[in-house]
Amino acid sequence: VPTVGHVSLVGAGPGDPGLLTRRAVARLRRADLVLYDALVDERVVRLARRAQRFYVGKRAGHAAIAQKDIHAAMIGAAQRGRRVVRLKGGDPFVFGRGGEEALALLQAGIPFDIVPGVTSAVAAPALAGIPVTHRGVSGARVVVSGHDTAAFSEMIRGLRPDALTLVVLMGRSHLPELAGILLRRDWPESQPVAVIVDASTSNQYVWRGTLKALSESNVLPDRDGATMFVVGSVAALALERADDSAVAESGTPVSPKPVHIGHRG
Ligand SMILES: C[S@@+](CC[C@H](N)C(=O)[O-])C[C@H]1O[C@@H](n2cnc3c(N)ncnc32)[C@H](O)[C@@H]1O
Repeated sequence: VPTVGHVSLVGAGPGDPGLLTRRAVARLRRADLVLYDALVDERVVRLARRAQRFYVGKRAGHAAIAQKDIHAAMIGAAQRGRRVVRLKGGDPFVFGRGGEEALALLQAGIPFDIVPGVTSAVAAPALAGIPVTHRGVSGARVVVSGHDTAAFSEMIRGLRPDALTLVVLMGRSHLPELAGILLRRDWPESQPVAVIVDASTSNQYVWRGTLKALSESNVLPDRDGATMFVVGSVAALALERADDSAVAESGTPVSPKPVHIGHRG
């Protein structure tokens, strides 16, 4: 009887290794095989010292490996008795296709566990000094994908802009268009917005402005980077640490000053 291995679906957090969970570190150290995505910091991948490590990420819609091949690789390795870590940015169950992978493992009868990660949907705003909920200001947070503008437009239908925080992931390639959709759905032009790029890394960039300004201009830095934006009254807050010299556990400065302050309409 072959010894069956194990798969861990592990969240790597937003980037800075200091934001890894202890369980994520433990799984990585024991791993024989790591299959990792785009947006996972190299220093995190390297924690898996004894493992074979393969990049299986997608960039700009181009799959390095098809999803079904990732399933087959995890299942095959576990069936050969190996300890596999499937490593994803943020949390594996927030837009990470972790649910599909868990289903495939269940169907194949492979033992697995889920190691939640610090999701960028909370951590990126937090590192820019934005609490996603704030008593008396925002009583809800909605996380949506901005990848498909038509689907986005449907998903935000019926949301009340005054009472909640909207967090949009995967919208980098059409920020002005997404802002325009919100304006056409009667969100106020003056609604505060923060665009956050590469949160938790030394490249962290924050733009603050209004929905109108976002709909009219290119606010992105002239380089690639994981990008999300926050819409709502909380986006005007900047509750950053008072001590700028503070550094993260890993030694990476995590709170650079906003590079550009947009007009506030
Ligand atoms: C495919 S989704 C995966 C989300 C991930 N599972 C999570 O929980 O954070 C990738 C999107 O997450 C956002 N993202 C991830 N890391 C980020 C970071 N460090 N700074 C800003 N946005 C980030 C971006 O919107 C990016 O397009």
